[in-house]
Amino acid sequence: MRRLLVTGGAGFIGSNFVHHVVEHTDDHVTVLDKLTYAGNRTSLAGLPEDRVTFVEGDIADAALVDSLFASADAVVHYAAESHNDNSLNDPRPFLDTNIIGTYTLLEAARKHDTRLHHISTDEVYGDLELDDPERFTEATPYNPSSPYSSTKAGSDLLVRAWVRSFGVRATISNCSNNYGPYQHVEKFIPRQITNVIRGIRPKLYGAGENVRDWIHADDHSSAVLTILEGGEIGETYLIGADGEKDNKTVVELILSLMGEPADAYDHVTDRAGHDLRYAIDSTKLRTELGWTPQYRDFEAGLAATIDWYKANEAWWAPAKDGVEAFYASKGQ
Ligand code: NAD
Ligand code: DAU
Repeated sequence: MRRLLVTGGAGFIGSNFVHHVVEHTDDHVTVLDKLTYAGNRTSLAGLPEDRVTFVEGDIADAALVDSLFASADAVVHYAAESHNDNSLNDPRPFLDTNIIGTYTLLEAARKHDTRLHHISTDEVYGDLELDDPERFTEATPYNPSSPYSSTKAGSDLLVRAWVRSFGVRATISNCSNNYGPYQHVEKFIPRQITNVIRGIRPKLYGAGENVRDWIHADDHSSAVLTILEGGEIGETYLIGADGEKDNKTVVELILSLMGEPADAYDHVTDRAGHDLRYAIDSTKLRTELGWTPQYRDFEAGLAATIDWYKANEAWWAPAKDGVEAFYASKGQ
């Protein structure tokens, strides 16, 4: 039995990963999570107590991190401030967690010689033109646009430096946009689904031409386990499932799956510096490590996600009014 430490395991993708690990391995998981506004303990409800231990704390707390690394065989690092719109409003927590927090983990990994997998994003590469035939690869130069993506880029570079300078046994993955259960209602897909449930019209930034490359969170989890087990130390792997869709198409699909007219949405103020398009080429992960995504039908995955939000209003309702008040104050 491997002892895994998962940072940010009460967040969206981290909690999906903990569920995935409990279902597909016999690993024991310790979750380290600060329970910021984005963390939710009930995302881990129902998991067996002998498989999952929860520790509330900050990844920038060096003493706590040191004690947890002392008894971990491997660490998967999800914890982050993750929302672009929040980073435009108040960048400071992004520096504290994404930069200083990652630095703190790297120092512990160096001291204890612990295997570390760092979770990152395709946003470190900036954006692509809508008609660009290229997609991001591991060789694409870093060119982040927002305070969020620049702090994620900084954290990736710290990991690379600790591998090269100190021999830390780390890998990095950069994934595209995730969807699925347990995603905070501030994010695009859950915001629109819960708007429709509440009788509020979905809100599309600008013209809605921006393209995101959607992957189900469970496919992200299987990719991370694959890299943890077979990835080469010091290497970066891009994770994506060929799921490019423009935002207008996604909103129209949500509306029609929920029985509403496909044009029953509003255009609102665009995001400052809004990245136009992300697209991932995951050939390296597929050919070198043999990973393939399982959720190939976006419409079916979206319908299941809509059902999850309908069935779990108690999970998202406490955050909904505050999120909508924040967006309203920005004209969004
Ligand atoms: P999230 O905001 O839903 O969850 C983040 C979690 O980290 C929360 O549980 C929060 O409480 C915790 N956290 C924040 N600061 C912390 C700190 N200082 N110490 C300990 N815990 C802290 O984020 P998410 O969407 O699940 O993203 C998880 C990771 O995946 C992030 O690193 C993000 O950059 C990356 N990522 C996200 C996506 C996506 O589509 N959401 C895509 C690619 C990569
Ligand atoms: O690409 C990976 C990234 O995906 C992750 O690194 C981030 O953590 C994650 O939040 C996500 O970033 P985005 O900014 O792409 O996701 P978001 O859900 O905020 O927005 C998706 C798209 O939808 C984006 O083009 C902005 C748009 N949007 C968003 C909201 C909240 C709208 O049109 N209306 C909205 O109400």
